[in-house]
Amino acid sequence: ARAQDLSGRHVIVSAGGTREPLDPVRFIGNRSSGKQGLAIARAAAARGARVTLVAAHLDAEVGAEASASLGGDVVRAETAEELAAEMRERALSADVVVMAAAVADYRPATVSEAKIKKDDSGDALTLVLERTPDILAGLAAGRSDGQVVVGFAAETAPDREALLELGRTKMARKGADLLALNVVGWTAGFGSDDNAVVVIDRSGTPVGEAAGTKEAVAHALLDAVVPLLP
Ligand code: C5P
Repeated sequence: ARAQDLSGRHVIVSAGGTREPLDPVRFIGNRSSGKQGLAIARAAAARGARVTLVAAHLDAEVGAEASASLGGDVVRAETAEELAAEMRERALSADVVVMAAAVADYRPATVSEAKIKKDDSGDALTLVLERTPDILAGLAAGRSDGQVVVGFAAETAPDREALLELGRTKMARKGADLLALNVVGWTAGFGSDDNAVVVIDRSGTPVGEAAGTKEAVAHALLDAVVPLLP
């Protein structure tokens, strides 16, 4: 059995990919499966935490597994805006907040009430996108005393040094307590069963590392969280 080192703690985890509507039938999305976020939620529960999973779009089998293992502790959020609202509200009572969701950085500036018709646009259609709120940065800026805020940085970095450099730049922007850096590409990261991360603290120093199943990565991340809790 796992050490119950998160017993009595409330952990809130976002997972999956947001979907930003263009019109009633279309959206802009991403390849996030939700597997890593669900693995963190389950690992935290196995270590004694009360867990809330705020789920954006999950792959079908991941969603089924989330419902089976976490039941009523799964909350749905479709867009970056909805996810931001859920996280803000639920973070008020959380000891640990993990942003594992792949949040759209941009969304359509206007959402068409009617289905967009190709007859109206001809051979090319230009979409105007606007920035979404940076949820992680907002949660980090508003964190309560002793609360630990964790983010991810998925990067297409060529090597570990480049990954660390990108991670440090991102840490400066986000103000989180920990960032889990991982390399993504056309074949690595999103959707796969395995992952590899380097965890850095606020100063950019590596404080944890794991490669293997998303469950192993989840526990390594929580290993870095526990010592920061008051
Ligand atoms: O800036 P970037 O998207 O690379 O940062 C990734 C981290 O920030 C992840 O933890 C992700 O959940 C979070 N994020 C966010 N709000 C956004 C974009 C990303 O919270 N609009």
